[in-house]
Amino acid sequence: MKVLVIGKGGREHAIIRALKKSNKVKEIYCAPGNGGISCDAINVPISETDKEGIKNFAQNNKINFVVVAPDNPLADGMVDALESIGISCFGPNKKAAQIESSKVFAKKLMKKYNIPTGDYEVFDSFDKAINYIKTQNKYPTVIKADGLALGKGVIIAKNFEEAENAVKDIMVNNKFGESGNKIIIEEFLTGPEVSVLCFTDGKTIRPMISSMDHKRALDGDKGLNTGGMGAVAPNPAYTSDIEKECMKNIFMPTIKAMEKEGCPFSGCLYFGLMITSNGPKVIEYNCRFGDPETQVILPLLETDLFDIMEAISKKELEKVEVKFANKYSACVVLASPGYPESYPKGITINGLNKDGQTDDLTIYHAGTILENDEFKTSGGRVLCTSAVGSTLNEAIEKAYNGLKKVNFNNAHYRKDIGQKALAIIK
Ligand code: AMP
Ligand code: GLY
Repeated sequence: MKVLVIGKGGREHAIIRALKKSNKVKEIYCAPGNGGISCDAINVPISETDKEGIKNFAQNNKINFVVVAPDNPLADGMVDALESIGISCFGPNKKAAQIESSKVFAKKLMKKYNIPTGDYEVFDSFDKAINYIKTQNKYPTVIKADGLALGKGVIIAKNFEEAENAVKDIMVNNKFGESGNKIIIEEFLTGPEVSVLCFTDGKTIRPMISSMDHKRALDGDKGLNTGGMGAVAPNPAYTSDIEKECMKNIFMPTIKAMEKEGCPFSGCLYFGLMITSNGPKVIEYNCRFGDPETQVILPLLETDLFDIMEAISKKELEKVEVKFANKYSACVVLASPGYPESYPKGITINGLNKDGQTDDLTIYHAGTILENDEFKTSGGRVLCTSAVGSTLNEAIEKAYNGLKKVNFNNAHYRKDIGQKALAIIK
């Protein structure tokens, strides 16, 4: 099989390294890929949102299977475009991808099918939104742009002023463009957060091992929201009782709801959950693998990833067993100085061998280029060290030990990845 993976981050690198283990996969291409990915796949210089470019490349190079990993091409119908020329894909079509690309769609779906989530109202007028906030007079309150916003479209406002500014930024100043034509004002929920990514072909659902993301830039969950600074798996807040409850009240109902709405979901459906005192509730859906969750989940997957993806595209997931190692996994992201705001590029990375790895640890590259045999930074999140251990502590320690060997000038990383998870175990 010739497989094309679309995307350029750590998630795509983890997917490619898992696919490489499959003896059905002969060649892997990545569009556009990055420096580290070029050691494991053949990079193709086509942007992940260039539908025509990807279609032509896939056709001309007789690609058998395409994995569409990022949210933008999924929301924009990349899967529809490729399937229309007979190429099998992993990922939802445009209609099903709405579960992530429109928070209004997702909230309405949950309300209609009684899937537990925070109470909310939708607004398309600034004045009405502000009136509602005043009448509610309840803080913190959560304000969300309807569409995709690079993970920055959620604002937790602690008082009226912050709420008003958030609504103004989204609806008047168009901070997120059309994504902010509508907003959601949502009840503030509390409790541990759990990410559960599920393989599904629209009928059968196979949850992967649970995980915990670390979204804020600084230790102690302080600083700005980022794409994710590290992750651990499994997530100790996700007990087997909660897992059963989620399967019954959230996962299956969502799959059935999508089918009833005429958009059965195929691919990886990501449930962002909060375990509240009233049980687990959905904070968000993503229509794809999470980043950096994928970098801790796939190292524990014992089943052949390509077999699962192929079965999903054939609507035969029920025939495949999805098995994970009974171990723990951790990853720590090394980011550019200044990330998630502006940052320099082109800094030399030390400590990597010619394959972009270290001898004893897996390195997933996110924002690197390979120039004259030297890896250099080219993005905000640069790479992550990923380690597996028989305890969570061991996995975390190994991932941090890796960072002692791999570094670059003024690199920034969180020192407390996994500490919240360890506190739950104790
Ligand atoms: P999202 O981009 O939807 O993942 O939201 C980003 C983060 O905002 C989540 O990971 C939560 O930590 C937080 N968040 C979103 N919705 C709520 C809510 N209703 N209550 C409390 N926190 C929330
Ligand atoms: N790590 C969260 C996401 O991928 O959206």
